[in-house]
Amino acid sequence: MSVLIRAISAYVPPIRISNEELASRIDTTDEWIRSHTGIGARHIAPDGVQTSDMAVSAAKSALEKAKISIHEIDYIIVATATPDYFGFPATACIVQDKLGAYGASAFDVTAGCTGFIYALNIASSMLETSHGRNALVIGAEGLSRITDWNDRSTAVLFGDGAGAAVLSRIDETGRGCLSFILGADGSGAKDLYLVQPERAKAFERQPPLVPVISMNGKKVYDFAVKSITVVIERLLHKTAYRLEDFAWIIPHQANARIVQAAAKRFSIPMDKIFLNIEEYANTSAASIPLALSEMDEKGLLKPNDLIMLVGFGAGLTYGAAVIRW
Ligand code: ACO
Repeated sequence: MSVLIRAISAYVPPIRISNEELASRIDTTDEWIRSHTGIGARHIAPDGVQTSDMAVSAAKSALEKAKISIHEIDYIIVATATPDYFGFPATACIVQDKLGAYGASAFDVTAGCTGFIYALNIASSMLETSHGRNALVIGAEGLSRITDWNDRSTAVLFGDGAGAAVLSRIDETGRGCLSFILGADGSGAKDLYLVQPERAKAFERQPPLVPVISMNGKKVYDFAVKSITVVIERLLHKTAYRLEDFAWIIPHQANARIVQAAAKRFSIPMDKIFLNIEEYANTSAASIPLALSEMDEKGLLKPNDLIMLVGFGAGLTYGAAVIRW
């Protein structure tokens, strides 16, 4: 028995903001953004489009590709740092309602940019150990809503989008989700966090304020390079695969320089690493499924290819997965 990614698809909102356009609003340049991050543009959701809307668009297209009905979905897991409602209800429940997936249980996963890998691990374990047959695993983000557009150190980094995977339990063995490593270092929680509106005092009404991203870029950069290196070493040790066995490594798309530094450490040729950060910037939990979807569309993923997903993010969290496509 295996748990296979049966189909993958994505939704990217239509509004595209180039570096030049951003540079006309805040004190930055295309040259700085490209040389420090590899980012050339980002897409942002129009007003009124919620994280759940993007998740639903990606999910519908993934279900079509998988050729299965929404009624066959047993679990819906949404990885997001930008839920429709902070706190509750879960965005996955809103997605369930919009899709009409009334037979499915639904919940969110909060693990920053590692969220998609965490959600994949949870879904594949649930499918392996329960009667469920199919799951929808979605990474979806509306980061433009929590970005401080006056803070040039973070405003240039993020974008919106969603990616959805249909997972199915199959009788065949040796394919699908083969191995996971997840980790966290909560001592770095304040290196990347959402500045909260002050908590309401008892019996007093609190005016709603918008939470915004606060990031210690240097600390997150160092954590990212270190955690990618450690998690790849641990995964190779755990699975006994060698780097040469992998057709592709698909990292979380946070900063091309982070990926290049990790690649140099392992002497991994950059043409084995898929990057699409130039067009979409950092879409947090959506970035890995967005990358997988683009690779799938371009025919870069062949059946039986061994691939590695690697992520890191707020928490601080990190994780990796080995998948035989
Ligand atoms: N345009 C122009 N100049 C800028 C900009 C900008 N957008 N942002 C910062 N600068 C300036 C700074 O003010 C500083 O100027 P100074 O030397 O006069 O003080 C200079 O550029 C260098 O700033 P640094 O912060 O040292 O730049 P650095 O090379 O470290 O790059 C960056 C910053 C890109 C943010 C990097 O630290 C990084 O990528 N960190 C990781 C971020 C990340 O991956 N976050 C997401 C994690 S995943 C998740 O869960 C969401």
